Amino acid sequence: MSSQVNKSVVFNIDVSMQDGKRQFKIACKPGEERYLLIKLQDKLKQDKSLLNYKSVRVYKQGSNKPCYTLSPKFLTAPLTISVIGTGYVGLITGVGLCHRGRRVICMDIDKEKVARINRREAPIYEEGLQEMLISLPEEYFSCTTDLKHAIMNSDATFIAVGTPPKESGEQDLSYIKQAARDIGNVLKHKKGHLVVVKSTVVPGTTQKVIKKLIAESAGHSDFRIAMVPEFLREGLALQDFLNPFRIVVGVECDEDFDAIKFIYKEFKTIFFKTTIPTAEMIKYTSNAILATKISFANEIGNLCKGLGVDVYEVMDAVGLDKRISRKHLNAGRGFGGSCLPKDVKALIHLGKRIKVPTPLLSAVWEVNETQPLRLVELAEKRVGLLKGKSVAVLGLAFKPGTDDIRESPAIIVIRELLRRGAEVLAYDPIAIDNMARVFPKIKYFKDPKEAIAQADVVIGVTEWPELKNEELYKDKVLIDGMKFLEKKTGKNYEGICW
Ligand SMILES: NC(=O)c1ccc[n+]([C@@H]2O[C@H](COP(=O)([O-])OP(=O)(O)OC[C@H]3O[C@@H](n4cnc5c(N)ncnc54)[C@H](O)[C@@H]3O)[C@@H](O)[C@H]2O)c1
Repeated sequence: MSSQVNKSVVFNIDVSMQDGKRQFKIACKPGEERYLLIKLQDKLKQDKSLLNYKSVRVYKQGSNKPCYTLSPKFLTAPLTISVIGTGYVGLITGVGLCHRGRRVICMDIDKEKVARINRREAPIYEEGLQEMLISLPEEYFSCTTDLKHAIMNSDATFIAVGTPPKESGEQDLSYIKQAARDIGNVLKHKKGHLVVVKSTVVPGTTQKVIKKLIAESAGHSDFRIAMVPEFLREGLALQDFLNPFRIVVGVECDEDFDAIKFIYKEFKTIFFKTTIPTAEMIKYTSNAILATKISFANEIGNLCKGLGVDVYEVMDAVGLDKRISRKHLNAGRGFGGSCLPKDVKALIHLGKRIKVPTPLLSAVWEVNETQPLRLVELAEKRVGLLKGKSVAVLGLAFKPGTDDIRESPAIIVIRELLRRGAEVLAYDPIAIDNMARVFPKIKYFKDPKEAIAQADVVIGVTEWPELKNEELYKDKVLIDGMKFLEKKTGKNYEGICW
């Protein structure tokens, strides 16, 4: 029985040459069939007698239908990918591409993170990430601090470093500029390399800043540049990466489009080919429209609360219209995270820079900044002045399913509570360590019941499933920011927009 389970999967390879046919077999260990193309490319590169092949057909043993038919271009197809930056996007990209059959070398300047990844410990929380990381064979997935090693041993390099906002809203390009200079330094020793920008950058940045810096450091322009924005949602990052709605590919030539399509060969989705600045703008437009829908729903929600109308029922009916859709119309405490806020701010800043007014985006931002404060106001309305009172804040991550607290509405709520002199009792299942770096002095609880027990009033910010339990709030006033409870439950309950 066990020998059956551990049996290798064998592929028959038919190579058509100018002067006839050559045949050989490739055996893959169970679970490693996905790396067949890498094994095949290695073999074709090493075996000089196969160099000028016309085509290659690959058959799984027992089948007479080829699973791949490959042209001579396959010899140079990018199969080993380096990924610079192993944050939410970089690590998911690296792990996801390797899971789909590419050899991946991740690279980061954070030694601690690199060591953890090589020990197969996920440095961030995302559902399924830890398990998938463990499942990747060492031969096909590694992480390093050595950029030269990563680039010289790969066919294409994805840049996934952070592009956080500055105080002014402008993008801080310092990390990506540094990465570009470093990549350029390595490319002094390599020509024709493909560099793919995955980080979100305002239109024009890839060609006018990143490409230029790489060329300056490399001392030549013999490399290729592309922009493939990432649309994954934290909390569902792996699932989104592996099953994207579409892959937007901003390129300067058809050859680069084909190369990128090859990298994503095992992804069943639409490939949207466009120019590089358009790809950059598609990413911003996508986030701006999501943010706009949320702020719109919140404003309507505030109106509905004033009128005694149920905003969720309103949106259920409105969302049946396919032109509108029900998605992103859940009224509540507003959006957070590392993308929507920073991308809206960056667009507003861009508008100022190129002197194009963006009043709609400014309003989206303003609604979002004030919405979480409604939770504090409602709490004070319920229990009186908050000075000296204990307030439980439940859910610190910007959304359930992640430990990311960047721009979390909980930060706005906690800051306001402290400003009003309240004691904050904070709970989150996985984001406490991250929030403790922002607010080291507030009290943190591993059990929501303990925080609630000591509180004069409870504010629900992020709706983790374990908090959606009426029993928890029996004797306490709950100010609900995100539909912790489906129905209004008596005099101790108050929803932010309902
Ligand atoms: N987080 C998301 O949900 C998301 C979704 C889509 C797009 N994006 C975009 O992707 C980019 C990355 O976002 P993130 O959330 O993964 O960022 P992050 O802050 O989680 O990770 C960035 C990583 O880059 C590393 N780094 C910085 N400079 C480096 C350098 N010179 N060389 C190597 N590594 C370096 C850092 O150490 C860090 O590990 C951003 O532009 C962001 O806007 C993020």
